[in-house]
Amino acid sequence: MTLCQPIVPPVFAADALEAMGALYPGRAGPLRHQLRDHPLLSIDALADLADALPAAQVEYNPGDLPIGIAPEDVPSNGLSIGETIRTIETNRSWAVLKNIETEPDYCTLLMDLLNELRPVVEPCTGAMLTPQGFIFVSSPQSITPFHFDPEHNILLQLRGAKVMNVWPAGDERFADRREHERYHTGGHRNLPWRDGFDGDQQAIALEPGDAVLMPVMAPHFVANGDAPSISLSITWRSEWSYRESEAHAANAALRRLGFDPRMPPRWPRHAYVRTVGWRVLRKMRLVS
Ligand SMILES: [Fe+2]
Repeated sequence: MTLCQPIVPPVFAADALEAMGALYPGRAGPLRHQLRDHPLLSIDALADLADALPAAQVEYNPGDLPIGIAPEDVPSNGLSIGETIRTIETNRSWAVLKNIETEPDYCTLLMDLLNELRPVVEPCTGAMLTPQGFIFVSSPQSITPFHFDPEHNILLQLRGAKVMNVWPAGDERFADRREHERYHTGGHRNLPWRDGFDGDQQAIALEPGDAVLMPVMAPHFVANGDAPSISLSITWRSEWSYRESEAHAANAALRRLGFDPRMPPRWPRHAYVRTVGWRVLRKMRLVS
C-alpha cells in the first residue's frame, strides 16, 4: 500500500454537505465524515511527519493547562515532537502539526477533502483561498486553551473523543474588539478567559466519524476525553475573511491615532471602504 493512495470519496456524504450548507459561514455545528484509518494519519506516520517538518511548523506543550493561559506562561514538556507523538498515550501533552500541505502526500489529502466542500463553500464565500491543514495529537484529558483562529475550518475527529466548546463569532461579550485588533496586528491567538463565559457555549462532542464546522474567529477551547486523540483540521480563507482581518487591523491603526472604532460588522461588505482605505494608507506607508 502506498502512503499517497487517493482517498475514496465521499468523505463528506450528501447529508453532511447539506448540514454544512445550513451553517456556513457564520455558525458552528456538528457534521459527519467518513475518513477512517488513512495510512497518513496513523501515530507512526504522524510522528515521522512531525520529525520531518521544520520546527516552525510544530507546536507542542504539556496538555494539562488551565483553560485561560498567556502564551509566555506555557511550559515545555521536555520531549522532542516525534517522541511526544509516539508516547502520546502517557506523556500528558498536546501537539499540533501545522501547514501539512507543505508535504506532497498530505497536500493531496487536504485538497481531496476541500474539493468535496467546494460546491457548498464557493457559492457562499467565493473562491477557497490559502488551503491549510493542521493535525492535533493530544493526550487524555488535555486542554487546548481558549482562543480563536482566522480560517474557515472543519475539524475531523479521527481517534479518541473530545468536546469542542465554541462561543458565537463576532460577539464582543466573549472576544472584545481590542482582542481582534491585537490578534490581527500580530498578537497570539489565545484569549482572556472568564469563568462567566461558561454556559454560553455550544458543547459539541466529537468521536471518530464526527466533525465540527468552526466559523472564522469563533472563540473556543477543546477538552480531550479519556483516550489519546487525533484530529485533522482542514482550513481555507476567503476574500471575506481577509477583509475582516484587514478591517480589524485598520481599527487598530485608528485606535493608535486616538479614535475608538466600533467592531466591524460580521459580513464585511460594509467594512469594504475602510479596508480599501487601509490598504491605500499601508501602501503610502502611513500605517504599519
Ligand atoms: Fe482552534
